[in-house]
Amino acid sequence: MKREILLWDETIFKDREVLEFDHLPEHFAHRESQMESLKFCVRPAFQGGRPVSALCLGPPGTGKTTAVVKLFSEIEAHSSKVVPVHVNCQMDHTRHAIFLRIYSKVLGHSPPSSGVSFKRVLERIARTMSKEKRVLVVALDDVNYLFPEKEVDRVLYTLLRAHETFPGFRAGVIAILSEPALSYVFDPRVGSVFQAEEVSFPLYSIEEIRDILGRRAMLGFYPGVVSEDIIERVSDLTERAGDLRVGIDLLKRAGMEAERRASRTISDEDVDQAYERSRLVHLQSALKPLREDELLLLRMVAEMETSKAGDLYERFQAATGSGYTRFHEILNKLDAARLIDTDFSGPGHRGRSRVVRIRYDPKEVLDRVKPKENI
Ligand SMILES: Nc1ncnc2c1ncn2[C@@H]1O[C@H](COP(=O)(O)OP(=O)(O)O)[C@@H](O)[C@H]1O
Ligand SMILES: [Mg+2]
Repeated sequence: MKREILLWDETIFKDREVLEFDHLPEHFAHRESQMESLKFCVRPAFQGGRPVSALCLGPPGTGKTTAVVKLFSEIEAHSSKVVPVHVNCQMDHTRHAIFLRIYSKVLGHSPPSSGVSFKRVLERIARTMSKEKRVLVVALDDVNYLFPEKEVDRVLYTLLRAHETFPGFRAGVIAILSEPALSYVFDPRVGSVFQAEEVSFPLYSIEEIRDILGRRAMLGFYPGVVSEDIIERVSDLTERAGDLRVGIDLLKRAGMEAERRASRTISDEDVDQAYERSRLVHLQSALKPLREDELLLLRMVAEMETSKAGDLYERFQAATGSGYTRFHEILNKLDAARLIDTDFSGPGHRGRSRVVRIRYDPKEVLDRVKPKENI
């Protein structure tokens, strides 16, 4: 009979790697139509034409990065005439950094010196690509990191108009955005060249979550470690958080909790224990892209716990001098990012009597959103 107790050198994990966020799942279900749309956009490039640009929109953890990485690996397996470059804009957030990354991909090595001018970098990329009749497809992942200083305009403008200076150069862009309430307005000169197909990535349904997490658990753990009930519990918690990464993190941490108890199976308590940490996966990533005034308003909501939008606006206005439009915009954005809840309540009143609540333990938010130091 199988022992219930795990020996110190035993593990319940069959493959830990599949429980990491950056694991590329072999089976990518429930995103067929999005993959089709992206393929449609890239298709002209295989005949040497200019790809259709795309804009992938959807909350965090809905498979946007995975879709593009999958697409790019299919492209690379299929043809060397199309050169896909995946840019993580959180890491490469200037035009120069992005073009250095493209350069390395196209030329197969970094530029000879780091002091090389932008013009030279662009010229080498464009001339190499057009000489070899290859077409560039650049994914700008988490493109909101290029919004400050309007860097995104410069990047798009350069990529999509370079053919005017370098005839024969072809490039397409796939922009990826997790902010549901996009408030960025492109420069008109960019707007005329960046006419993107919108590809939307909605939240996964509970059935889809169950399917994806069940498969992940099957690959990650030995048989018998995770029961159907546990998958159910993990899926419910994941749906509530609205981010698939919570579920993947939850499986991993619950597994670690079980091992801590030297158990061969994951229990409800292991999941609940793990959830204390895993649910913050979403908080952490939701906070990352917020701007200063957005963080300030979030802090105010957390401090007041429950407040009327009108009272909140007075405090916000006093602190920033911003008007109601901006206030309203941020409120919607924080709501869409699932950081706060805004209910309409109070008969006959709208807008300012909205009740605003923080969705997390206020302390957890306040710990992570520090006020700016007064210098
Ligand atoms: N349809 C899916 N099937 C399997 N795993 C998925 C699916 N969608 C997302 N994932 C997994 O969920 C996590 C988050 O996906 P990701 O593509 O990074 O989301 P996004 O870029 O939209 O924030 C990743 O670990 C990814 O492997
Ligand atoms: Mg992503």
